[in-house]
Amino acid sequence: MRSAVLRRGFSYVPECYKVQPSHRAESDSKLGDVPLINLDGMSDDPARRSIIIQEIANACRCYGFFQVINHGISQETLDGALSAAAGFFKLPNSAKAKFMSSDVHEPVRYGTSVRDGVDKVQFWRVFLKHYAHPIKDWIGLWPDNPYDYREKMGEYVVAVQELSVKIVGVITESLGLGPAYLSDKLDDGMQVMAVNCYPQCPQPELALGLPPHSDYSCLTVVLQDMPGLQILDSRDKSWKAVPMIPGALQVNVGDQLEVLSNGRYKSVVHKVTVNSEKTRISIAGLHSLGMDVKMDAALEMVDEDHPNGYRESSFRDFLNFIAKNDLGEGKNFLNTLK
Ligand code: SIN
Ligand code: FE2
Repeated sequence: MRSAVLRRGFSYVPECYKVQPSHRAESDSKLGDVPLINLDGMSDDPARRSIIIQEIANACRCYGFFQVINHGISQETLDGALSAAAGFFKLPNSAKAKFMSSDVHEPVRYGTSVRDGVDKVQFWRVFLKHYAHPIKDWIGLWPDNPYDYREKMGEYVVAVQELSVKIVGVITESLGLGPAYLSDKLDDGMQVMAVNCYPQCPQPELALGLPPHSDYSCLTVVLQDMPGLQILDSRDKSWKAVPMIPGALQVNVGDQLEVLSNGRYKSVVHKVTVNSEKTRISIAGLHSLGMDVKMDAALEMVDEDHPNGYRESSFRDFLNFIAKNDLGEGKNFLNTLK
């Protein structure tokens, strides 16, 4: 396996990590003006809730992305999850290797590429992915080293699952479908945690942590310890660097919500840049319907003026797609649904 990114002290970017020039970061380092939404009062203050519904609706229409503050998850819980993640990546390779797999269907897997040994272009990232909801079904499979990984990550995943159901409730309400339209399906659905480590990179302009993609989820909530995420503004096709706001979480509308809304809301295309100063850690929680539950456009979103623009699909359909296709070649599952 090619694993330069795992080795310390690499002084150049090997050929297989060089991304095509149009995907690189040089021309797009402008700090973006991306929506920041204060969730204070979302659940218990009707006047605040209507304002939040309007703000989130605008953000979903224009970008499919927003940051949130006053989301109700304590700084201690956020810091605990980030330090558990950092602790895992600092372990010797022998301790991490037992989770290594290139089978995208494994519920817990560690890797250096989406499909180790198969993908042509490699990305400057190592990751641990694990299923997380309901937590009792999965926590026993997670790493138990560092000793508090399960406790700290567990606290965060339970809190972020609850938060994501609330935010999706605001989103479905903003579409006129009501706040509980997806609640049961998400309670019975999947939560996949992508715990990412992007090591310092000697030539950050040549490589990427992750190539442009959209997420196969209803909603992805990201916790990061430093900037690096960029989103595509679909209106003028410009890249916007997401500013770092301490304590904030980043929220991506995923493919399943774009389909549900029949394209009214956008599944945000995003990529991750790397830097030469510091290793970056991020924890992306992808919240979606159950493995075999198909998402289709809501009937209320389809009429003569808005014919259904998407095929229905499930998380398993997505996994089968990524098992066969190379993210680095710009293939995106959502495009196959249109
Ligand atoms: C992702 O797109 O899954 C990761 C996002 C990030 O690292 O900020
Ligand atoms: Fe993503």
